Parts: sequence; structure tokens; C-alpha cells
Amino acid sequence: MTDHMTANDVAFDNPLNPGFRRGKNILAVASGKGGVGKTFFSISLTQALAKSGKKVLLFDGDLGLANVDVQLGLMPKRDLNDVIRGRLSLDKVVQNYNGEFDIIAGRSGQASLSALPSQRLMMLRDQLLDLAEQYDAVVIDLGAGVDRTVRLFSALATRTLLVTTDEPTSLTDAYAFIKLGSAAGLSKNVSIVVNQAQSALEGEKTYKTLLKACENFLRLSPSLAGMVRLDPRVKETIRHQTPLLTRSPNTEAAADIDKIAKAVYREMQDEAKEMAKAARR
Ligand SMILES: Nc1ncnc2c1ncn2[C@@H]1O[C@H](COP(=O)(O)OP(=O)(O)OP(=O)(O)O)[C@@H](O)[C@H]1O
Ligand SMILES: [Mg+2]
Repeated sequence: MTDHMTANDVAFDNPLNPGFRRGKNILAVASGKGGVGKTFFSISLTQALAKSGKKVLLFDGDLGLANVDVQLGLMPKRDLNDVIRGRLSLDKVVQNYNGEFDIIAGRSGQASLSALPSQRLMMLRDQLLDLAEQYDAVVIDLGAGVDRTVRLFSALATRTLLVTTDEPTSLTDAYAFIKLGSAAGLSKNVSIVVNQAQSALEGEKTYKTLLKACENFLRLSPSLAGMVRLDPRVKETIRHQTPLLTRSPNTEAAADIDKIAKAVYREMQDEAKEMAKAARR
């Protein structure tokens, strides 16, 4: 597990705090362990939602190690760094990808971005929540682990999709994410995505393993958002810097992502209705 995942860190931006804001159309993509496929999944989920006619924004929330632009082969002229420096407002760094969806690119290797003062992070949060109102859905690609940036974005999301593979280290870190998230009041809105599953059955098994640990030790039952099968064409599409649904739309992995996009969008709309109801109470 990453060493920044410490328990005394988790009080930040607790939903119980006054001034807390949550979006009604925001999906955050997270993972305990790095390299499990968050960026690939975020891009593909965005593309699947866009293909079904939704207006979607993909936000690169991996502030220190941004790579949405790399997987898409973009050379962004403007990015989050301009926003953080106060040069541009968030809506001014939006770029369109291929007429399909909008993107806000991050800036890789900018240490100052991952170590932003809380005030700047909150400003970014507020601008993102405002901008989200112009879209049907916003997808946030997060960095691995559960540091304060991740917690902030996870807290503002309607739902956090926690990506894991069947590797024991990935499962252990997914469990740690839920555990630490639950201390910050975040885990209620977490669903699991099993990525790189050998088969539907194996993916189900991986989910059950994680579910059992959460039920036994945390009294939590995160739902399964779905699974994405292991597919050699995923690597190929990343190497070609072309997203999966463009280059290989007829693969099993693409079908899996389509299915998740539909289910997750429906669920998110239900959740938004619940939130609106609760707000009227
Ligand atoms: N369904 C899949 N089938 C095959 N390979 C996959 C699949 N999903 C991800 N991968 C592989 O995993 C690698 C890592 O993916 P990606 O960069 O999206 O992970 P990440 O979680 O965003 O990493 P980081 O934590 O560094 O941001 C990809 O380069 C790809 O080779
Ligand atoms: Mg990534």
C-alpha cells in the first residue's frame, strides 16, 4: 500500500462537514493500487457515455501524474496548471476530443499540483461543480491511493468507481481504500469495477472476495458496477494513443464498458433524484 494512506489523514472534506458539496452527475474513478487501468477505464467510460448521446466531460484528476492526454495522444495547449496558477478559469481549459467529448487535461510531473494548498483544491472543486452543470456526466480520472486530493474528488462525486484487478495487492489496497474512505464518510458511494478479469466468472469471484472482507470487517457491502475483461487490444490501443471504442469497438472489453456505462448512468440518475428529494426535506 502507498505510504500516504494514513488513517489520521481522513477527516478532510468529510461529507458531515458544513459547506460540503456533492455533484449529481459526477463519477470518480479510483483505485488503491496504481496501474490497474483507471485511466484506460475513465477514457473508455467517457467514450461509451458520449456514444449513447450524453454530453460528457473527462477531468484528469491525477494532479501529479496526469496521463489522460498521453493515452489520447493530445498535446494540450491549456491545462489544469493554468487554473491552479490563477491564469485561467476552469471552463477556459476545456478542450474537445474528436467531436465526441470534452477534456480537462492535467499536467504531469508538476509537483506543485499534487501538493496544492487546501484552499486551492477547494477552489478547483467549486469550479468543477459549477462546470459540471453544463454536462450530462463528468468522469474524473484519479490518482492511485487515498490522499487528500483523491478524497476531495471522491467526496464531490455522486459515485466513486473503485477499480481493482484480481491481484492480491490490488485487492488489499482496494479494501484499504474502502476502509480509509469509510472513516471519512465516503464509502457509501463506492462501487467496484473488476478490471482485467480472465472471464465473467473469475471477475465475479474477485468481487466476492473483496465483498466478503468488507462485510466481515467493515460492515459495508459495496455494489459491483461491473467487470472489464482482460483484452490484449487494450494495450494495443494505449500504445496507439487511440481509445478502445474508436480502435477496437467490437471487443469484449468494449462491450463490458458499454454495459457498465449504461448501468452506472442509470444508477447515478436515481441517486440524483434521491439527493434532490433529501434536499427538499
Ligand atoms: N482490460 C484490460 N485488458 C488488458 N490490459 C489492460 C486492461 N486494463 C488495463 N490494462 C493494462 O494496464 C495498463 C495500465 O493502465 P492505466 O494506465 O489505465 O492504469 P492506471 O490505473 O491509470 O495507472 P496509474 O495508477 O499509474 O494512473 C495499461 O497500459 C494496459 O496495458
Ligand atoms: Mg492513470
